[in-house]
Amino acid sequence: MLVLGIETSCDETGIALFDTERGLLSHALYSQVEMHSEYGGVVPELASRDHIRRVLPLIKQTLAAAKCDLHQINAIAYTQGPGLAGALLVGASIGAAMSFALKIPALGIHHLEGHLLSPLLSTPAPNFPFIALLVSGGHTQLMQVDAVGHYRLLGETVDDAAGEAFDKTAKLLELGYPGGAALSKLARRGRPGQFKLPRPMLNSGDLNFSFSGLKTAVLTLVSKQELTEQTRADIALAFQDAVVEVLTQKSLAALSQSGLTQLVVAGGVGANEQLRESLDYKAALKGAAVFYPELEFCTDNGAMIAFAGAMRLQAMPEKNWQPAGSFTVKARWDLEMLEKPEAN
Ligand code: KG4
Ligand code: ZN
Repeated sequence: MLVLGIETSCDETGIALFDTERGLLSHALYSQVEMHSEYGGVVPELASRDHIRRVLPLIKQTLAAAKCDLHQINAIAYTQGPGLAGALLVGASIGAAMSFALKIPALGIHHLEGHLLSPLLSTPAPNFPFIALLVSGGHTQLMQVDAVGHYRLLGETVDDAAGEAFDKTAKLLELGYPGGAALSKLARRGRPGQFKLPRPMLNSGDLNFSFSGLKTAVLTLVSKQELTEQTRADIALAFQDAVVEVLTQKSLAALSQSGLTQLVVAGGVGANEQLRESLDYKAALKGAAVFYPELEFCTDNGAMIAFAGAMRLQAMPEKNWQPAGSFTVKARWDLEMLEKPEAN
């Protein structure tokens, strides 16, 4: 079964073709980061307009790269939410229109389900059940994943997401937007122990997170220092140390509490090298294994949407594979409210 995946929830147009027998055939991504960086954040209206410009050429490019014809596609999976309503509408309307015209099923996919399942695209892949740490620009959650569509929220941020904290701190350090990767690069030159920042909610006794206080602590620090190249690097490292320690400890606590031994890390912050080193080291001490998506599939992409669509279709009764009659998008959508594929 050949599934076309379409991702347009935020500022990246991602298209991919996933075949259930042959794996990922091709994928293409267009990032709007440069366009939005001028404004210091994503401008929703500009994002939707750019998705409109990119989506069809990218679909053609992806089909050509896989040497596939439009009529070989068996199903369409598009990101239905959560995300920017206007941006989501672009992918949803193209997906539904193609499904209608080609008389093939269309599936609206939850963006975070795409991230959660993305490590299954790599080898070795984890087996169900596992714990997933979802760390992106909009979300910080620990979930127990028992099967496709069976997700239990164990803990989440009570304020800012980890990626958001990275981006806001990067802005304070004059690193541009989005600054997570740039901050992490700068931190490599930081001197350990120069500054000590708080570890919010480290000992809260639950699996929740809080990152907004950390950003405020950086703001206080920045306003008191002369911002030389070295101090900026020292602050970047102190910030990263704090986030990494909290994410690591809570993830390990989730493994202990659930008795599971596999941790999957998904979302843009999962690209962070220090986080990977810390999780790998601490998990190995406990006999647990950590799985990451390929670096290019950590951030938003079409492959994870095509893959999630393929997994859902395979878990659904075939009589329910229907072409789209209409479509909706869900700018806000709770992952736990997701329907189980076998109930579709
Ligand atoms: O998953 P993603 O592409 O988009 C959302 O759905 O949010 O994640 C983007 C987030 C941004 O906040 C970005 O700064 C952060 O991931 N990020 C990183 C790194 N690379 C991307 N944060 C820390 N270290 C990195 N290397
Ligand atoms: Zn994402």
